[in-house]
Amino acid sequence: MSRKIKISLLPGDGIGTEISKQALKIINWVNDNFEYEIEVLEDYVGGIAIDQFGSPLTNETLIKLKQSDAILLGAVGGPKWENLSFEKRPERGLLKIRKELDLFANFRPAIVFDSLIQASSLKPQFISNLDLLIIRELTGGIYFGEPRGIKEIGDGKRVGINTLVYASDQIERIANVAFEAASKRSKKLCSVDKANVLESTELWRDVISETSKKFPDIEVTNMYVDNAAMQLVRNPKQFDVIVTTNMFGDILSDCASMLTGSLGMLPSASLGVDRKTGKKYAMYEPVHGSAPDIAGKNMANPLAMILSVSMMFEYSFANIDIANFINKSINTILEKGYRTIDIKEDNQTQVTTEEMGDLVLKELMNEKI
Ligand code: IPM
Ligand code: MG
Repeated sequence: MSRKIKISLLPGDGIGTEISKQALKIINWVNDNFEYEIEVLEDYVGGIAIDQFGSPLTNETLIKLKQSDAILLGAVGGPKWENLSFEKRPERGLLKIRKELDLFANFRPAIVFDSLIQASSLKPQFISNLDLLIIRELTGGIYFGEPRGIKEIGDGKRVGINTLVYASDQIERIANVAFEAASKRSKKLCSVDKANVLESTELWRDVISETSKKFPDIEVTNMYVDNAAMQLVRNPKQFDVIVTTNMFGDILSDCASMLTGSLGMLPSASLGVDRKTGKKYAMYEPVHGSAPDIAGKNMANPLAMILSVSMMFEYSFANIDIANFINKSINTILEKGYRTIDIKEDNQTQVTTEEMGDLVLKELMNEKI
């Protein structure tokens, strides 16, 4: 009996459309070769939704997203929508999905493929075999804290306000996720904060310490975010699992991505649970953005998006075999020297977005299942 699954595909803007087409090829391969009956529902988020419906995420779309088993998102944003009022911007669509589905746990692995070591700006010895996981709190902190806004305060002056606020239960649930992830890996967890300056992260540090009592076999360290940024480029292999706040995670994950050679290589998973129904929600998306400068040119690297499909089968459908097939095929293609322009070195074969998708698919079709 094949299992019915419903995937919402939100290509979004810029290169989102092109990389989503490549992801679809891989999903179709899964559908044809495994016991799944996959229904893919395409929908709109971001700038394209603004153009179509005047809103970066309509309530109709949100309802459909809540009904699907997993969401796959390309990217949102672009210069066309940059001057819109804050609530209308494409990014609000993405943030609304995160908030409405309570996707509080964001997993951003940074894994170095051997064949890409030369693409990193760091020396090979610092990054070979690097495999780290950043767990970013995704629905709290300064991204969502109130009060917020730009306010007139008289005399022609304005103030811009954002609030960094964390409640202890918000910290506790991300801490639990991080400790559990560390239990399954090398049992090392580094919590990143700015507890020397910000009270909200002083509380963060306290709650991490309390939670650690439930996980006596995990070695916990605490690091200030400025030091963590420096350590990530100085000696990234000292880390295994990092857990941090929404904004620090945003910044550190971009930094970690360059260790792997390209922002075009990093997938992510955002997970949450509906408090009322207990239904699990999950969204998978590349860490990179919509790259408007190369959009529509068939140049973008689709591998982060394809790796997001891999994460989806591992995390949402507990199918590590499919994830392994996809990851192995990507590795083989890279070893054969095929590269999109962002990761290309001399002596390698430059391929387009489409060609990269086809190459991975062809490799998968050769697999014995
Ligand atoms: C990310 C992005 C988003 C964020 C933007 C697009 C809202 O940078 O997912 O890292 O800041 O969270
Ligand atoms: Mg970011």
